[in-house]
Amino acid sequence: MTITGCQNSLYVKQMFDRSSCTYTYLLVDSNTHEGAIIDPVEDLLDRDLKFIGELGIELLYIIETHIHADHISSAGLLRQLTGAKIVYSKYAAVKSIDIEVEDNDVLDLGQYNLRAIRTPGHTNGCMSYYVDGMVFTGDTLLIRGCGRTDFQKGNSKDLYNSITQKLFSLADETVIYPGHDYNGITSSTIAEEKKWNPRVGLQKSQDDFVQIMSQLKLGLPAKINEAVPANESCGINFNSNVHVNNNFSITELYQIWQQKNPDNLIIDNRTKEEFIAGHVPRSVNIPFGTELQHLEQLKGFKHIYFYCHSGRRAQAALTNLTKKGLENIICVSHSGLPEWLALNYPVEES
Ligand SMILES: [Fe+2]
Repeated sequence: MTITGCQNSLYVKQMFDRSSCTYTYLLVDSNTHEGAIIDPVEDLLDRDLKFIGELGIELLYIIETHIHADHISSAGLLRQLTGAKIVYSKYAAVKSIDIEVEDNDVLDLGQYNLRAIRTPGHTNGCMSYYVDGMVFTGDTLLIRGCGRTDFQKGNSKDLYNSITQKLFSLADETVIYPGHDYNGITSSTIAEEKKWNPRVGLQKSQDDFVQIMSQLKLGLPAKINEAVPANESCGINFNSNVHVNNNFSITELYQIWQQKNPDNLIIDNRTKEEFIAGHVPRSVNIPFGTELQHLEQLKGFKHIYFYCHSGRRAQAALTNLTKKGLENIICVSHSGLPEWLALNYPVEES
C-alpha cells in the first residue's frame, strides 16, 4: 500500500487540538511508511493512533520540540503502544527518553533526514526540526509571533538569537509549521516572518525584542502545574487499558511455532514484499495498517502472535486490535525476523 497521491514524497499531516491550540504533526515517508510524530497531545491519543493505523505508519520517533506547559503529552503512552522512540533536546533534561539530540543532529526517516536546530529562548530545551524545505518550530517561532519567555528558563535574548540567527538563516521559501496558532493560520514561511513578524521581523533589534517580551504580561497557562511535571516524565505512561507485553521474545515465538497447535496463529505484520522475501513458516501475512479488516477472522483463534522486523509494527497492530476488544494477542515487540534469521530458525519464501 502506498499513501494515495503522495508517492515518493514526505507526507505531512497537520492536526489541531482545539483546547490548547496545539498543532501535532505526522510525518511519513510515503515510500517506506516510516514516520515521526511531533508534539502529540494526550487527550488526542486515539485520533493519532487511528491515523497511524489507517496510514500504516511505522512510527520511528515521537519528537517533542520542548517541555510543554499547556497540555500533557502522549509521548510515553505512544511509545508503549507503537514501540517508537522518544526524542528530546539534551538540554530539556527529560527523564526516560530514548534519543537525546544536540544542535545539528540528524534523525533518519526513510529517504529523509530530520535535522535538529537548537533554538533556546522560549524554554532552555527548545529544539526546531528541519526537513525537506520545512521547519517545525515548536513555540520558538509562531506565525506573526513567538513563544513567551517568562518561565521554564526562558530568555528573551536567547529567543531573539535563535530566531534571527538560526531560523532566519534558512532559505526564505522554507515553510514554517509552528507548535501553536490561536487564529487558525496553519503555516508561514521564513520570508513572511522576516518581513511581517511584529516582534522579530522588520529588522527589530534585540533590545526592541526584549522590551516587547517584558511587557506582555500574560497569565499562566491553565494546566501548567499539571502539565510540566507530567511532561518532564514524557507525559503519563501507565493509564492505558491496552495490554503491553515487552518481554515476549523471538525464542518464545519459536517455541510456540514448534508446538504446531491449531489454536495458535502466527501473523507477520510486515509488507507483502517483505513477507515474500522470507517469513516464519506457516505464518500469515497481515501488513500493518490492514489488521482491522481481519478483526472477525482473528476472533476465531485462541492465541495470536505478531511479529514484524523491529517490533514496532507488531506492537502498533496489537494496539489497534486490542482497542477493538480483541484479546489474546502477544507480540514480539523488540525484535523480529532479523533475529529469527540470526538464530538459524527455519524460513519460508513466497
Ligand atoms: Fe511551549
